Amino acid sequence: MPSLPNGHPPSSQNHQKGGKAQQHQQQQLFARKRLISQQRKSLPIASVERRIVDEVTKNDILIVVGETGSGKTTQLPQFLFNAGFCKNGKAIGVTQPRRVAAVTVAKRVAEECNVELGQKVGYAIRFDDVTSSSTRIKYMTDGLLLREALLDPLLSRYGVIIVDEAHERTVHTDVLLGLLKKVQLTRSHSIATEPVNNTKTDVDMSNAEVNSQRSNTLKACQNAKLLPLKLIIMSASLDAKGFSEYFGGAKAVYVQGRQYPVDILYTYQPEPDYLDATLITIFQIHLEEGPGDILAFLTGQEEIESIEKLIHGRLDKLPEDRRKIITVPIYSALPSEQQMNAFKPAPSGFRKVILATNIAETSVTIPGIKFVIDPGLVKARSYNPVTGTESLIIIPTSKAQAQQRSGRAGREGPGKCFRLYPESEFGNLSDSTIPEIKRCNLSNVVLQLKALGIDDIIGFDFMEKPSRMTIVKSLEQLLLLGALTDDYKLSDPIGHQMARLPLDPIYSKALILANEFKCLEEMLIVVSMLSVESIFYFPREKIEEARAARKSFSSPDGDHVTLVNVYRASAECLGKSRMVTTKDKTIERNLNKWCIENFINARSLKHARDIYSQIQGHVQQMGMSVTSCGDDMLQFRRCLTAAFFLNAALKQPDGMYRAIASGQTVQIHPSSVLFRSKPECIIFNELVRTNHNYIRNLTRIDPLWLPELAPQYYASPN
Ligand code: CDP
Ligand code: MG
Repeated sequence: MPSLPNGHPPSSQNHQKGGKAQQHQQQQLFARKRLISQQRKSLPIASVERRIVDEVTKNDILIVVGETGSGKTTQLPQFLFNAGFCKNGKAIGVTQPRRVAAVTVAKRVAEECNVELGQKVGYAIRFDDVTSSSTRIKYMTDGLLLREALLDPLLSRYGVIIVDEAHERTVHTDVLLGLLKKVQLTRSHSIATEPVNNTKTDVDMSNAEVNSQRSNTLKACQNAKLLPLKLIIMSASLDAKGFSEYFGGAKAVYVQGRQYPVDILYTYQPEPDYLDATLITIFQIHLEEGPGDILAFLTGQEEIESIEKLIHGRLDKLPEDRRKIITVPIYSALPSEQQMNAFKPAPSGFRKVILATNIAETSVTIPGIKFVIDPGLVKARSYNPVTGTESLIIIPTSKAQAQQRSGRAGREGPGKCFRLYPESEFGNLSDSTIPEIKRCNLSNVVLQLKALGIDDIIGFDFMEKPSRMTIVKSLEQLLLLGALTDDYKLSDPIGHQMARLPLDPIYSKALILANEFKCLEEMLIVVSMLSVESIFYFPREKIEEARAARKSFSSPDGDHVTLVNVYRASAECLGKSRMVTTKDKTIERNLNKWCIENFINARSLKHARDIYSQIQGHVQQMGMSVTSCGDDMLQFRRCLTAAFFLNAALKQPDGMYRAIASGQTVQIHPSSVLFRSKPECIIFNELVRTNHNYIRNLTRIDPLWLPELAPQYYASPN
């Protein structure tokens, strides 16, 4: 767990050691403190501290709007803490849509407060909790606060909740807004009590314990007075009106941003290959412009990794003294420790090139950026409620996104933004991004709301209502998965178990089924491996070797078994039990070596192994035992069929496939091990829409298994 202290309070030991080195270190520490203190005082938000504190005191809901970098996330919680908002022992909870923001900001604030991370200031994200009973300023993901509400429905441990980056309108933020509205109303009207002082997370508890804790909290709430909840909604763009209306005309405070001029440059023609154009622009800046780091916005991990390699390939061809570039990737699937690399300054004389997804648009402040490269695209979720299919597509950004991106170049001085499209195209972009809740499958949301005791999903007070059809489709899906009873209540135990696992409902169900099929170990591997991007790695210059390496793991049964093979082989190469963790340095070295030899993405594999052990913890707490089916892949494939029956497809005479549930015509993605063999019937996990409907992560199945293993959906053939 990354819980290293950021601020080091001077200890008596330090004084005793003395010595020049020690003195130097102390001087550096003081210099750093002075710098931080100066930086804080010069932040735009510093001048409105009083006003904000007054407004929060007077109003139960406040909207705070200010440009990225004005100091909202780091300073506002400290203002409230210093003004005594935690005197009653309650905490200030600050939600972030992204893990990386929760972690980096908590570290920064701990340093600013000169405390050890996890004490007064801490963070909690899925699978990583760095807080303690003394934590008063807690940064967390919005999804995590939703899960906390499952155990503590009135969020009684918080006196203030700040929903940060609300403009991002992630599906979790939107659900949270509705929930907080309800909680606030209940808390200001109900007679309630002191918080249930429980440091246990749901992972540590059995089902019965969870239920008993919930009812205790509710009972307690009926007995004594609970303080009203203060709610603050923070947003970067100017959408205060929408939030204010939703919260019954709540007051908004505007914080002036600090923005230096940014020169916006466009291309003359549309770029046929935006990756190539990005690469050219990086080198153009590097060779022609003065010092300053570059931030390039790309759409995902694969793109980032391929550009990273191309940059290094090209650097080798430059004269020695012009090669001073370091590249750092940052995207949400990257483990937090690695995301932190983007924040480290480049070695002296080097230029840092940050290759980021839209994570760097508003969530994080990376110092030193002077140049932004914006190809104008973003990977977004898209959902078709008619077919019930969700897919990832690459679409143009909105105007608001383009402006956010260019703004990143002007935080510390004048900057330049290279938009890799013609100026005329900017006018065609939509003004703002469609909230995620309107373009994703809602099964997860519906399951969470049901688990929170909110049964009327259609009547739930969403800021922007998802379509009725999407909700109905999700209810249907949950019914088919057995999470709901016939009258649409959460089923016991399956529905409750599914709601407790921090996974998509379909994967939670897969684990529950795998327990019955005695192949939980294999399903855990698959779920973990599918939770990370690109396990296999195909460098252009060694493509044949990489293909041969993958072939050695390939199973004619499909991609799931192939992933199991990779995972098992990686564990065996270490000569230890299958389930070694990657904490040990020697193990890590061996694993890295093995990954290089086998063209496996070490970063992704390690991440998958971490996820494995975390989910293993959850299922074991739920009383399941992790058994393996060994080499009985027939059993495992039958289990996959029982789990993913909604995603089955049959081969058509022309070699294409028809997805049975949606009726869509789809084809096998070239990356699948079944791309050539084209079996008669398959189940798949993912639909990727580019110019074709591609399906990825497949397993060959017998079509007769469908009516046998999913009779609730497939009528018997007779
Ligand atoms: O939330 P908002 O975008 O308004 O600003 P913030 O995240 O509070 O950041 C304010 C300033 O704190 C930034 O401009 C950085 O100078 C600094 N900061 C930092 O150095 N390291 C971080 N991890 C976060 C913020
Ligand atoms: Mg912020």
